Amino acid sequence: MEGTLIFVLSLFVLHKSFAVEIKTISNSRFLTDGDTLVSTTRVFELGFFPPNSSENRYLGIWYKNIPVRTVVWVANRDRPVPGASTSMLELKIIDQGILGLFANISMIWSSNTTSTGNATAKLHDNGNLVVTDQDEKVVWQSFDYPTDTLLPGMKLGRDYLRGKEWYLTPWKSSQDPAPSGLTWGADRLGYPENKLRQGDSIIFRGGPWANQRFPGVSVFSRSLTFRYDVIINESEVSFAYNLEDNSILSRVTLNSTAQLESWAWVEGGTEWRPVVSFPRGACDKYNICNAYGTCSINMIQQSCTCLDARRFVPKNQKAWDTADWSGGCIRRTALKCKNGTEGFIKYSNVKLPDAENTWFNMSMTLEECRSKCLTNCSCMAYANPDKSRSVCLLWFSDLFDIQILPEDSGGPDIFVRMASSELDSQSENQGGGNSKIILLVIILPGVLFIGLIIGTWLCYARRKKNHAKLTGGAEAGEIMNASKSQEEDMELPTFSFSAIVNATANFSPDNKLGEGGFGPVYKGMLEEKEIAVKRLSRHSSQGLNEFKNEVICISKLQHRNLVKLLGCCIQGDEKLLIYEYMPNKSLDSFIFDDTKSVVLDWETRFNIIKGIARGLLYLHQDSRLRIIHRDLKASNILLDLDMNPKISDFGLARSFGGNETQANTQRVVGTYGYMAPEYALDGVFSIKSDVFSFGVLVLEIVSGKRNRGFIKPENGDNLMGHVWMLYNEDRSIELIDPNCTKSCDPLEVIRSIKVGLLCVQQNAADRPNMSNVIMMLGSESELPEPKQPSFLTEKDLPVVNYSTGTYTGGSMKNFTITEVGAR
Ligand SMILES: *[C@@H]1O[C@H](CO)[C@@H](O)[C@H](O)[C@H]1NC(C)=O
Ligand SMILES: *[C@@H]1O[C@H](CO)[C@@H](O)[C@H](O)[C@H]1NC(C)=O
Ligand SMILES: *[C@@H]1O[C@H](CO)[C@@H](O)[C@H](O)[C@H]1NC(C)=O
Ligand SMILES: *[C@@H]1O[C@H](CO)[C@@H](O)[C@H](O)[C@H]1NC(C)=O
Ligand SMILES: *[C@@H]1O[C@H](CO)[C@@H](O)[C@H](O)[C@H]1NC(C)=O
Ligand SMILES: *[C@@H]1O[C@H](CO)[C@@H](O)[C@H](O)[C@H]1NC(C)=O
Ligand SMILES: *[C@@H]1O[C@H](CO)[C@@H](O)[C@H](O)[C@H]1NC(C)=O
Ligand SMILES: *[C@@H]1O[C@H](CO)[C@@H](O)[C@H](O)[C@H]1NC(C)=O
Ligand SMILES: *[C@@H]1O[C@H](CO)[C@@H](O)[C@H](O)[C@H]1NC(C)=O
Repeated sequence: MEGTLIFVLSLFVLHKSFAVEIKTISNSRFLTDGDTLVSTTRVFELGFFPPNSSENRYLGIWYKNIPVRTVVWVANRDRPVPGASTSMLELKIIDQGILGLFANISMIWSSNTTSTGNATAKLHDNGNLVVTDQDEKVVWQSFDYPTDTLLPGMKLGRDYLRGKEWYLTPWKSSQDPAPSGLTWGADRLGYPENKLRQGDSIIFRGGPWANQRFPGVSVFSRSLTFRYDVIINESEVSFAYNLEDNSILSRVTLNSTAQLESWAWVEGGTEWRPVVSFPRGACDKYNICNAYGTCSINMIQQSCTCLDARRFVPKNQKAWDTADWSGGCIRRTALKCKNGTEGFIKYSNVKLPDAENTWFNMSMTLEECRSKCLTNCSCMAYANPDKSRSVCLLWFSDLFDIQILPEDSGGPDIFVRMASSELDSQSENQGGGNSKIILLVIILPGVLFIGLIIGTWLCYARRKKNHAKLTGGAEAGEIMNASKSQEEDMELPTFSFSAIVNATANFSPDNKLGEGGFGPVYKGMLEEKEIAVKRLSRHSSQGLNEFKNEVICISKLQHRNLVKLLGCCIQGDEKLLIYEYMPNKSLDSFIFDDTKSVVLDWETRFNIIKGIARGLLYLHQDSRLRIIHRDLKASNILLDLDMNPKISDFGLARSFGGNETQANTQRVVGTYGYMAPEYALDGVFSIKSDVFSFGVLVLEIVSGKRNRGFIKPENGDNLMGHVWMLYNEDRSIELIDPNCTKSCDPLEVIRSIKVGLLCVQQNAADRPNMSNVIMMLGSESELPEPKQPSFLTEKDLPVVNYSTGTYTGGSMKNFTITEVGAR
């Protein structure tokens, strides 16, 4: 009895201490538990192993020469061998070249292929276990059956000839290598791209394949050089990667919590270094912004915007405003597909949309691709996903899961079909997300909705208080009954919709004056008076909030330098504002127009500057409510018959009570080029941010140049930088618009420029307030020296890189950036 036990024990010990390494498995040579099959130069090793703290044994492949056991492939994933130490395990080649795993003589797993004659199995240095027949023809290889690890040279995709699919599935847990329900592999339909799926639902999408890089999934850091091999033809679609530096080991894994991760092991290292991991953050979640939406992340929250806010609008604005992005966006102007009239708008540097519903051809020029798309009404967009060849990819559905990529990522361009009326200023929009106005949305964590409500109610509540004084007290319930009492309290003429329809000849395009903040503006004749009608975009409930705000606040404001609101109209979906008509339209149509700007001699310009200053002073100080305009710019200054300026578009104004002069806003709204740095960057707005915009406006009026888009070729300065340079060289006078040099009064010009510079100083506290400004413009006294202005350019704005979504705690406000189109 005792003897037997000692015999068994010593067998066991002998067995362990004489582990054998073999190079080949053949008819005559098999592998038993404890022995290993090693690759030619001993990089990898195949053998039996128990996963972490498990009783079960599995056949697997791992790296031979690193101290951390890292299994890259498992044969019998869901057929473990239990009671390992007492089972007799063998891996051998059996008849017909099948590689079989046996426990106690019964077959647990096999290679499931056949060949004639003698076959051999070898482990290659890339980690591939290969069974070849006597003619060295590959009959089976482990690379055809990936588990949770993608090694260099291993393929993902499909082999149509053999009906084989290559994809990753993670282990269920670190103890159980059985496949879980997750997969990472190429899509079945359309142009190939990888998708991470849980069962049928998509979790993350890698973006259409490309040879040079893998958009959206640059799995590898820049310090490592990878080569991608993409094969797309009738017999195969596959994607593989290779590492150029052989001293570094690399692998990509998919783990059970749906994380794809790439790892590197540098020679002489002690652990795997994670390189990058996907999905990374909320924006990578599949289709989070739905059709034509794009996601940005900042601090802690993710937010969606339409791909291009000039041409797309949220399908359901109300839901969108409450961070429900599920409706996605729709084209502002629906496609009609009149033959040949439509065109395309280019968006650059994007993660191309879901390619499931696509058609492609691997050898077509972009021009051929364009005309192919144009002639088919259901073609929504085209692109070449792979810059290394001429691929034509056409989309036949709405575009889902698009993402504007960080600026330096060199992503592909996409050309999206648009109605002809949307194509006008295409050039302005070339370059994707860069040349857009941004609209910053600041959400105090967790109180988004409450914040919005408070924002829109400030004005109303104060009015209500006044009202209460008169009527001897208002019931709380009355205040709660929002929209109803607002309408009753408006004290503003209301017009019937039909009257407005008549007045504007049913909003005839001939009567359209332009496009305001939240909808088009029409000219009309009402009771023999000319009026301007602003029709709020029907899709826009954001406009609805602005609308209410504007109506209630602005109806109280009367000043000769403010546009007068004559009345309003609310009927069903329709919300209209009726203003006095300004025959000379807006200031920008004069000062930036080479021929029309001649009309504006210096005296007129100086009057306009002073008029705007007075209007603004009224808003800031003299009106009963303190109003910060927040979107002061040339196109919001209208001119009457005598060229008197009138500030318009109070839709964005917020009013404050008493001595509140600064606040953080729930939504930062404004136009790039006029936004003060503290407002654009931190969402802090105050009367001083209006002063900043005023300063920009002054410099534009003097120079006849737009701040936004002005670039001095010699030194790349923007307008502000240019003015500052001239000022410091005592050459301010050179700024003057050549069209008014004759009429100019040099002292007034220089004074105006100096006041402008004082208004655009970086630090809000350094800027004068509007009553100082009016004094400075009107006197001949000495002016203070301006400090360097803010040279904020679009690049400096926090159009947050979606990949830097880390939040380091603290009580920071949360920024969300929404892009709205340029006007
Ligand atoms: C193999 O046989 C041993 C002893 O008879 C037993 O303990 C073990 O469970 C068997 N293994 C399998 C996989 O059947
Ligand atoms: C491999 O095995 C599966 C089931 O285990 C079987 O359906 C399939 O036909 C086999 N393939 C070959 C080539 O033997
Ligand atoms: C297979 O291998 C055995 C033993 O190594 C050898 O005798 C036999 O000739 C081989 N058969 C073929 C077809 O090569
Ligand atoms: C194995 O288990 C130990 C303790 O149970 C744990 O610390 C370790 O992280 C596990 N390793 C893996 C690869 O799961
Ligand atoms: C597809 O590409 C692979 C790899 O380049 C090649 O071996 C195969 O012959 C090609 N098939 C066709 C139908 O072109
Ligand atoms: C999967 O990978 C992620 C990222 O490295 C890690 O946070 C997570 O814990 C992993 N999950 C498991 C089950 O190992
Ligand atoms: C569209 O116009 C092209 C050329 O002008 C013509 O070949 C094509 O048949 C037209 N298609 C339709 C649907 O009218
Ligand atoms: C792809 O386009 C080229 C050029 O127009 C054409 O010669 C080729 O037949 C097309 N291939 C397919 C599969 O349509
Ligand atoms: C447009 O493309 C779709 C999808 O490829 C196709 O089904 C349809 O027949 C095409 N229509 C025309 C007019 O070519």
